[in-house]
Amino acid sequence: MKRPVAYIAGTGHAVPRRAVSNADIAAMGLDTDDAWIVERTGIRQRYIAGPDETLTALAAQASRQAMEQAGVQPGEIDVIVLGTASPDHLLPATAVEVQAALGCTRAAAFDLGAACTGWLYSAIVAESLIAAGTADTVLVIGAEKLSSIVNWKDRNTCVLFGDGAGATVLRRARGGHRGILSSFMRSDGALTQLLWRPAGGNVEPLSPEAMAEGRHCIQMAGGEVVEHAVRSMAEATDRALDAARLTANDIDLLIPHQANVRIIDATAKHAGIPPERVFINVDRYGTTSAATIPIALNEAIQQGRVKEGSTVLFAAFGAGFTWGSLVVRF
Ligand code: UT7
Repeated sequence: MKRPVAYIAGTGHAVPRRAVSNADIAAMGLDTDDAWIVERTGIRQRYIAGPDETLTALAAQASRQAMEQAGVQPGEIDVIVLGTASPDHLLPATAVEVQAALGCTRAAAFDLGAACTGWLYSAIVAESLIAAGTADTVLVIGAEKLSSIVNWKDRNTCVLFGDGAGATVLRRARGGHRGILSSFMRSDGALTQLLWRPAGGNVEPLSPEAMAEGRHCIQMAGGEVVEHAVRSMAEATDRALDAARLTANDIDLLIPHQANVRIIDATAKHAGIPPERVFINVDRYGTTSAATIPIALNEAIQQGRVKEGSTVLFAAFGAGFTWGSLVVRF
């Protein structure tokens, strides 16, 4: 097992004020109901941001908690990496707006686009920057305001997504065994159209027609995405465990991307991890894409399910497709 170069020194999360139940969504005139959504996804509610609750504000709130827990001052942050698919502006990166909000004046800041795998990819980039000697302390954020890119008339997608932010501070490990033990990342760009936003970029710029058809919003072939997610998350758990030379028995908690309980159950079953060692909060947050894992990690720590000495397996899958995994000792 390699000696870790980076460890997770602090975590935090933030969600908008307003919780929206499945019944609230059905009451918007959509042909759906609580029973269908719970049975097919496990989701009972999600948080939806108001206009004043920007992505920057949510990410900054989560980051302040993570920095406080890590005992890190704004001036000590070398790099901010923010995984998101729903930035506040198309230019510049939301990470620089978070930098300004936090006063991290010494930092380099950039966004990373890997959809639901955004926090996990960002953590691997942060570890690499630390290993290269470029940075000692990296703020790694996963944050989404998906409510602004969801088609609220499409029951296939709008019931799934929510808003929120999770933040982690990664620092250089100075001896010892806590930190990132292994990582795995992979993409397949042959299947972009199974989960994408067709309009709003260069190929199909925003137009009244595109907006009327909801082509600027998330579109998803749900069933096919589930198949790929189950296969890829299985590969991801295998690869990170192999690389860390660990087995399922060594894992205290699996924290998977929170998209659908059926995908989570299949991933845990494949990895051989029993339900009591799997963290699930998709029922309360829906899918917050890049934010699901850091939100779940912060809650798991708050609940005492991750403590000093815990070995945690993370696995994520998202649009692109992108997928990956990490084994981390706390
Ligand atoms: O986070 C990034 C990755 N995302 C995911 O991994 C999520 C992937 N997708 C899913 O979680 C699931 O595919 C869904 C929950 C979106 C759908 O579940 P499913 O079991 O795959 O259902 P389905 O696509 O086979 O659709 C079954 C039926 C369809 O009706 P017809 O065509 O059979 O008449 C849908 O129109 O369910 C219908 N349906 C709904 N019915 C009530 C789809 N959404 C809803 C809804 N309420 N909200």
